[in-house]
Amino acid sequence: MKFFIDTADLNEIRDLASTGLLDGVTTNPSLVAKSGRNFLDLVAEICDVVQGPVSAEVAAVDFDTMLAEAKVLAKIAPNVAVKVPLTPAGLKVCRHMSDEGTQVNVTLCFSPGQALLAAKAGAAFISPFVGRLDDIGHDGMQLIAEIVQIYDMYPEITTEVLVASIRGPQHVIEAAKLGAHVATMPPNVLRQLYKHPLTDKGLEAFVADWEKTGQSILGAAKTAKAV
Ligand code: G3P
Repeated sequence: MKFFIDTADLNEIRDLASTGLLDGVTTNPSLVAKSGRNFLDLVAEICDVVQGPVSAEVAAVDFDTMLAEAKVLAKIAPNVAVKVPLTPAGLKVCRHMSDEGTQVNVTLCFSPGQALLAAKAGAAFISPFVGRLDDIGHDGMQLIAEIVQIYDMYPEITTEVLVASIRGPQHVIEAAKLGAHVATMPPNVLRQLYKHPLTDKGLEAFVADWEKTGQSILGAAKTAKAV
């Protein structure tokens, strides 16, 4: 499963890219607004830091303007994945950009039918929002299960299921169990995946016991070299 982070905060992106665990980044207009940064400059900088796909979302809702914006975004870097909303205009833009060789991430997906349309429009990624469905009392993970099941029936579908609107580590685990290709998560969720109280407790005991030996691995290696 690929791990993307859902943020426009460059410090977070740099920090998590250094772990070697990051496969891409997703942004959206709300995250860009929160960053306070110039959008095009920001996307260029993120694309320098992360080799994998960096989703940059169009702002327009009409086809002509959306297509023009998509072309501007695609020119920023080869790893830009243009993000479009799941609307008739968005899927038309998706078709155009995919035919030109640009990866497209279709966002704001809330139903299996929408996911099918995005696949037919040549989307590289479909972004179903699990958290926002959970928020209104639906089962977000059920949508992931249905999309994965449908896509698996058709080998010609190459669209990757990018689970978005993730609220916690459990969403990531459930998405992985269902075989979703990508999880995009807020930075804090990625950090939470490391955590287990027994890891902390076990490490504390190992460190304490090692101190009792009075040894140093690096000291021993230096001595061995000197001999
Ligand atoms: O970037 C799209 C998606 O991940 C947004 O998540 O938390 O605003 O529902 P959220």
